[in-house]
Amino acid sequence: MTTAALEVTDLCKTFGGVRAVDGVSFTVPEGSLTALIGPNGAGKTTVFNLITNFFHPDAGEVRFGGASLAGLAPGRIAALGMVRTFQSARIFPGMTTLENTLVGAHLQVRAGPVRQMLWAASARREERALLSRAEALLELVGLSGERDVPASELPMGAQKLLEVVRALMARPRLLLLDEPAAGLNDSETAELAALLRAVRSNHITVAVVEHNMSLVMGVADQVVVLDAGKVLACGTPGEMQSDARVIEAYIGQDTEAA
Ligand SMILES: Nc1ncnc2c1ncn2[C@@H]1O[C@H](COP(=O)(O)OP(=O)(O)O)[C@@H](O)[C@H]1O
Ligand SMILES: [Mg+2]
Repeated sequence: MTTAALEVTDLCKTFGGVRAVDGVSFTVPEGSLTALIGPNGAGKTTVFNLITNFFHPDAGEVRFGGASLAGLAPGRIAALGMVRTFQSARIFPGMTTLENTLVGAHLQVRAGPVRQMLWAASARREERALLSRAEALLELVGLSGERDVPASELPMGAQKLLEVVRALMARPRLLLLDEPAAGLNDSETAELAALLRAVRSNHITVAVVEHNMSLVMGVADQVVVLDAGKVLACGTPGEMQSDARVIEAYIGQDTEAA
């Protein structure tokens, strides 16, 4: 039996009369990569905001590793191991690429100022380990050469990859990515796909909102299709690709737009 990393049950959220999320239920199996797709305005980002308690649901429940997240602050949820990125990259402009990467580890480092004084050696070991992990992740997405460059000077696609790397530095149990491939060129998208595969082979559960169908179809185990705030369909990428409702609501429309 596969256990659920994340269980979303009957989530509802209305904004000024608009039912942005209208009874959404789905499960993200432990260790899987689940893609959330659907047209613009379908409610994908709102679902992420409800899962992470950036917004409070009008109704419904989110369980993470079996425990309800009701009433927990977003920071507390992140500390439990659920780490997200945002639809538009949020890098720290005054820091280098490497510094931005290391910031992601702040959730994880237990070496506070006092402990650093008392346990300087262990803190230094911890720092060295973080540095080598940061360097390995930057290498994986092709950003090693940019490590000392101010992050604000990176192209937008590289900034988005950096944001994913920074999220990984927190050692998430569940990584939520909102449109990580938006604005990425072909080679950056390939780096992202490689990163997602590496993430999955490290048994980190991923939920990703994504419009790039070839990326989704190449890496997802499960696809949840949202339309007008409801789950339209859910299944394997192959099943979703041949589902007439999905094609009509999303894939067909996307092909026309392209
Ligand atoms: N903070 C908000 N305030 C008001 N309306 C919102 C807010 N966030 C999202 N919405 C509305 O909710 C619906 C779903 O939006 P969103 O979740 O961003 O969709 P998606 O990410 O699938 O494109 C849209 O109609 C959007 O305008
Ligand atoms: Mg969105």
